[in-house]
Amino acid sequence: MNSSNDPSHLDSIDLKKDLVEIDHAPAPLESLQAQGFFRPVPLWFLTLSMVLLFWAGLYLAFYSGGFKAEVFNPDVVSWSGGGAGGVAAPVDLKVIGKKVFSQTCVICHQETGLGVPGQFPPLVGTEWVLSQDWHGDNHLVKQVLYGMQGPITVKNMPFNNAMAPWNQLSDQQIAGVLTYIRSSWGNDAPPITPEFVAKVRADTKPRSEPWTMAELKACPKEMCSASSAAPVPAK
Ligand code: HEC
Repeated sequence: MNSSNDPSHLDSIDLKKDLVEIDHAPAPLESLQAQGFFRPVPLWFLTLSMVLLFWAGLYLAFYSGGFKAEVFNPDVVSWSGGGAGGVAAPVDLKVIGKKVFSQTCVICHQETGLGVPGQFPPLVGTEWVLSQDWHGDNHLVKQVLYGMQGPITVKNMPFNNAMAPWNQLSDQQIAGVLTYIRSSWGNDAPPITPEFVAKVRADTKPRSEPWTMAELKACPKEMCSASSAAPVPAK
């Protein structure tokens, strides 16, 4: 009677049975381990990843083409073409020229290149800028190097004013600004190279005063491209 009425005896048996069952049910982690889910990363995979990363680094270093942000930024212009070290960006004369124009020429010749009637001559389609007839390319370089003064006709319009010399500009800057005005606003004349500017500068070295149209007219373009300090008077 005593033993059959003792509920704790039954309970303990049931508990033991449950524990045995829990013992036998595989824990999820263990079962995953048993199925081989947690193997160490194979050595060949690690090695391959390292080799690929290293190769990617080398590839970027060698084949990025010396990429620099300012190459595509028209506002950043390096006059010397490329800074210290690295691959020098190709010099774009028009980009340099546009900057020189907006800093030095625009006040008089205007953004449109049309000048100011009666005061500052236009640069659009003029015989000087396009170097037609006797207006040689070297005349154009000389005008910017030494300036102009006195009466001048531009597209059959008379002007009588003065333009200051711009010989403090480098060969590259003058070549740039002339290339720019010769290819803007519908103008379509070949570029002027820095080498050509250097040659004209050297050929006209002792000169310091601005040109007059009469002087340049007296000097056909063939004769002026030869080395002569002052224009050779035509007789
Ligand atoms: C202060 C005003 C002024 C500035 C700045 C100036 N010019 Fe001129 N430019 C003139 C004047 C004035 C003439 C005509 C000179 C004369 O009357 O003898 C002229 C003439 C010219 C001519 C020949 C005539 C023509 O229009 O085709 C060219 C080319 C020229 N300038 C280019 C330039 C360039 C390039 C710059 C900038 C580097 C520049 N000028 C800056 C006033 C200026």
